[in-house]
Amino acid sequence: MVDGTRVFSLVAQEGTTEFRPGVETRTWGYDGSYLGPTLRAERGERVAVEVTNNLDQPTSVHWHGMHLPAAMDGGPHQEFGPGDTWRPTWEIDQPAATLWYHPHPHGTTEEHVYRGLAGMFLLDDDASRAATLPDTYGVDDIPVVVQDKVLDQNGQLDLTDDGGEPGILGNVVMTNGTVGAYQDVTTERVRLRLLNGSTARTYQLGFEDRQMDLVATDGGLLEAPLRLDDIRLAPGERADVVVTMEPGETTRLHSAEPDLGSVAAPFAMGANDAFDVLELRAADELAPSPEPAWEESQHDRADEVREADATETRRFELDENSINGKKMDMGRIDEVAEVGSTEVWEVRSTVQIPHTFHVHDVQFRVLSIDGEPPPPELAGPKDTVYLESGRDYRLLMRFEDYTDPDMPYMYHCHMLKHEDGGMMGQFVVA
Ligand code: C2O
Ligand code: CU
Ligand code: CU
Repeated sequence: MVDGTRVFSLVAQEGTTEFRPGVETRTWGYDGSYLGPTLRAERGERVAVEVTNNLDQPTSVHWHGMHLPAAMDGGPHQEFGPGDTWRPTWEIDQPAATLWYHPHPHGTTEEHVYRGLAGMFLLDDDASRAATLPDTYGVDDIPVVVQDKVLDQNGQLDLTDDGGEPGILGNVVMTNGTVGAYQDVTTERVRLRLLNGSTARTYQLGFEDRQMDLVATDGGLLEAPLRLDDIRLAPGERADVVVTMEPGETTRLHSAEPDLGSVAAPFAMGANDAFDVLELRAADELAPSPEPAWEESQHDRADEVREADATETRRFELDENSINGKKMDMGRIDEVAEVGSTEVWEVRSTVQIPHTFHVHDVQFRVLSIDGEPPPPELAGPKDTVYLESGRDYRLLMRFEDYTDPDMPYMYHCHMLKHEDGGMMGQFVVA
């Protein structure tokens, strides 16, 4: 740390990656040839990033899940061209969480992410430091970026749009850019920071032979660990799970056929697909790890957002290709939120395809789905939620600070073909 500022630099560039032995696939990455370094900062720190674009076209870098000024958000209004450098800076002011970063250029986000541009951005705070969670990065605290690709006959990324919903569904699943990934485990428990970094595919992640403890969702820790068989993760969503291992054993995180809700028959969403995601190989002796436990920080309780304080209800209806009948227009502000106010956003997919709703700048709570309380895995802080077709999702959020009447934040479907196709809107906090 220098002067309380954490400085990062990233270079978006082309390269080649060996997904298959002996085959060089042309890919994009930050610094390296595929994906990007894990960035990490602490609540209260200032962050300054220098991003250089060494691609042959404009890009941007969006800090997904981050609470920050709109001009630093890295959406389509912060694109920068080949050879240019973008220098955002902001203060980390939100609870510990597993966030991520990825390009967000207008109309080409799917391609930029698919080619490999994405990375994790981990936040820490006092509560996460005091928690008894596996926390040695790369040893018992493991990033797990799950993505699917179509590799053509020559082993190159196939971006052909076959016109299907919800975009490209790959036939190869890779973890952290590795096909057939495994992790050596040396402790009794490991924390897996699961990120669905795919452009379209939804996964149902779990183990066949054991349960796991969900400890955090998109925006931070749950109130207490939640034991689950598996969890559905749509594009953009994260889940931190803790898994217990026995000495010498091997187990596999896999994606079972996902429960996608109601989907109209002609749309292939990948409902029949199952994949291995990550093999865990335990050493013959494992260092002890404590049960996951933590106390909610005082600060978080004081910060609690209450439905009773909501002063505005907005409704968002997603059809096949627009939100509230409108396509994204960079020059149009769709919604104006009052700074400091609490709002309820009612969101629904009105057609027989699911969507994934993401809101920039805030973490929200899912209040209800069709009037019922959400399942416990959706009760924690979220910035992205899978919308089963035909169901009403009520989301509670507060627009804390950072006013800018001219620079909008985005809300959109995180199935990136839909986002690029115009299922995105803009709001300002003023
Ligand atoms: Cu992860 Cu607006 O995006
Ligand atoms: Cu985002
Ligand atoms: Cu969508």
